[in-house]
Amino acid sequence: MAQTRIALLGPPNDAQLRAVARELERRGATVLVVPSDALEAHRPVALHHGRLEIDGQRLDDLKAVYVRSLPSPHPPLVEIGGELVLRRDWFAGYMQARERSGFLMAALLCQEAAGVRLVNPPQAGVALQSKPLQLELLRRLGATLPRTLISNDPERIRAFHAAEVARGGEVIFKPLLGGAITRLLDGEVLERLEAVRAAPVIFQQRIHGDDIRVVLVGDALVSAVAIRTPQPHLDFRDDPIYRAGEATYEPVHLPAAVADQCRRAASACGLVFAGLDLKHTPCGKWLFLELNSSPVYLDVERKLAHPISQALAELLMG
Ligand SMILES: Nc1ncnc2c1ncn2[C@@H]1O[C@H](COP(=O)(O)OP(=O)(O)OP(=O)(O)O)[C@@H](O)[C@H]1O
Ligand SMILES: [Mg+2]
Repeated sequence: MAQTRIALLGPPNDAQLRAVARELERRGATVLVVPSDALEAHRPVALHHGRLEIDGQRLDDLKAVYVRSLPSPHPPLVEIGGELVLRRDWFAGYMQARERSGFLMAALLCQEAAGVRLVNPPQAGVALQSKPLQLELLRRLGATLPRTLISNDPERIRAFHAAEVARGGEVIFKPLLGGAITRLLDGEVLERLEAVRAAPVIFQQRIHGDDIRVVLVGDALVSAVAIRTPQPHLDFRDDPIYRAGEATYEPVHLPAAVADQCRRAASACGLVFAGLDLKHTPCGKWLFLELNSSPVYLDVERKLAHPISQALAELLMG
């Protein structure tokens, strides 16, 4: 019988990619690791007559592709005197990076059109990886969300803040597309709120309670944990204990209705593999924050023996 061929796209030494590769090999699959920086490193690629080749590997007859990460075109920057500035030759470099990323995106979508399972499809990982859309899809599903305002209008933001304060609460803010730590909208930030006119920001009711990470693989809820550190921070990723890999995890039991909302939210966002961030309040409410298309999970897998890599391998093998 022909072997099941599965491609893994990402940094070849990525621990999570290696863990999935091991589980696939254990199940008898042929694993093809495709370095996500192959094009950046000027490795040869070709798409010819429906045949895809990347760095000498023929990617035909694939059963599935695990998309651990995809390069996205960043403007070419250099640091001069502590300031990030564009390189003088930025235009050609940036356009080439866009074309490279376009090639990989198209190559994946061609595979999908040929019936290859993508975990996750790149359109879900990129286009739907937008918090405003996720929040809207979650709201439509009836999921409980923090009260939210997305705006670049200082007037409306002040009014939103005043209403939360009147309720005895606080407001946090975070970017639409991620890439920055969640912060408190305090007096100092309110004083320079005019800066928000440059780009809309997400403002949210601050939720107190446990940070919950749920991992869904296909329909299976493989892991649901509360993230524990000795001194909880507003954004757990800012916590030195978490950063040092010393967080602990406590398994949590999700009510059936919340688990169901997790599944429906992932499906609405086009994700077959998802890491969902929730808050669990002391009075027992579960509030949704966001969905991640390539969640980092190895620490939970190792510390609690939650079989996420195994579930991923099984999903990829079909
Ligand atoms: N409304 C909120 N109330 C309290 N804490 C919040 C709130 N929103 C975010 N946080 C904290 O900040 C963390 C990061 O926020 P979130 O998960 O929404 O985005 P993100 O992880 O920054 O997004 P990305 O993964 O795209 O960078 C949350 O896990 C939580 O600890
Ligand atoms: Mg998050």
